[in-house]
Amino acid sequence: MFDKTAYTTRREKLKTLLQDGIVLLPGNVDVPMNYKSNTYRFRQDSNFLYFFGLDQQGLAGVIDLDNDSETIFGDDVSLDDIIWMGPQPTLKSRAEQVGVTQTQPFSKLSEVLSEARSKGRKIHFLPPYRSENMLLLEDLLGIKPAVQKDEASIELIKAIVKLRSVKEPEEILEIEKAMEVAYLMHTTAMKMARPGVFEHEIAGVVEGIAISANGMLSFPLILSVNGETLHNHAHNNKLEAGRLLLMDGGAETSMHYATDHTRTMPVSGRFTDDQKDIYEIVLKAQIEAISAIRPGKTFKSIHMLAAEVIACGLKNLGIMKGDVKSAVEQGAHALFMPHGLGHMMGLDVHDMEDLGEDHVGYDEEVQRSDLFGTAFLRLGRKLQQGFVLTVEPGIYFIPALFEKWQQEGKFKEFINYEKVKQYIGFGGIRIEDDILVTDGGYRVLGKPIPKTVADVEAAMGER
Ligand code: GLY
Ligand code: MN
Ligand code: MN
Repeated sequence: MFDKTAYTTRREKLKTLLQDGIVLLPGNVDVPMNYKSNTYRFRQDSNFLYFFGLDQQGLAGVIDLDNDSETIFGDDVSLDDIIWMGPQPTLKSRAEQVGVTQTQPFSKLSEVLSEARSKGRKIHFLPPYRSENMLLLEDLLGIKPAVQKDEASIELIKAIVKLRSVKEPEEILEIEKAMEVAYLMHTTAMKMARPGVFEHEIAGVVEGIAISANGMLSFPLILSVNGETLHNHAHNNKLEAGRLLLMDGGAETSMHYATDHTRTMPVSGRFTDDQKDIYEIVLKAQIEAISAIRPGKTFKSIHMLAAEVIACGLKNLGIMKGDVKSAVEQGAHALFMPHGLGHMMGLDVHDMEDLGEDHVGYDEEVQRSDLFGTAFLRLGRKLQQGFVLTVEPGIYFIPALFEKWQQEGKFKEFINYEKVKQYIGFGGIRIEDDILVTDGGYRVLGKPIPKTVADVEAAMGER
């Protein structure tokens, strides 16, 4: 946990951004896997962590804006708990570590909120994403889960997005700590990838690296020879010479700060000429997009720039044709890159996505596009110093999408379908790094993970 002033300062800032009422921030509880006491690994709620710092189950933080008071609700462990789980510091002493002096048993929360509701006071809560907290909110506030998202406090969402979007220096240090683990995860995968190895053999070692560093993965590992499937979490394939292997993986520190990198490598250790051609286009798009990052620039314009580099590169290979700018404006490149260029990253790998992508990534000035492909861009708005975000262009040959578009004769003026057909079975290439927006530009975070064709091949070693 950070020093207590980090949490007291954040709560003070939050108070200045809100008018009145009560802020309710429930933490998470354990979630059963296959029976009640056999639970998934515990992950605290990121908003609770940000303002109240405590990484344990069964807590809720309350900020009373009208009385300028803060309380953590929770229970001290019972003798039974001590026998099974060991002794724990008291709630009072844990709360003091994050600068909160008032604590109450969890059962009191309902009383406090009922009283506030009976007086017609506003209770600010966030859209819940776990059923346990949906049921808790229904219990506490009498609001059905189906409408909780609509009744969540926009004022609180906007205030939190404003604060969490700009990373504090100690948060950046924490993200950089995770970068060392990320480097080891990705370079280990490069060393292990070779014909005959199963995806799950590498996936297990990579996840083990994150756990050995006293953390965990920041999201389920994407490691697949079918890199064209964007979020493929199955790891059943045997690696074969001639294929590509895409790994999109991130580490999370014990403080829950994330990394998110993608590298694509040739199973045999050496790229074929066709693979190199496509790889160089993705790399160029990624490097040019990163170079364009600076405060005041919209990320949507950087997404469009990357899309143009991709369309231009594909045109040079005869895969696309026609005017590159109009192809991108109309969305023809989305056959090859149907996703956005990147997203915010921090306590969540897709930072604050629970608060609503549009609240995090868009504003009055920059609205989400409804064009297939560009519509999936999670971050479009103007960049500010202190944002941490990913830049992750890719080129994919997705058989189902290709067949649909070809049948429809979609964008025939921009796509050379006969040529694309030759690439079906190629897979996909994505290259992803994590970037801090600085005063005058950007900084790529972490020790550089091999990225050029030569560096990836060198990291994979002699074969
Ligand atoms: N979590 C996958 C990605 O956004 O890169
Ligand atoms: Mn990723
Ligand atoms: Mn990402």
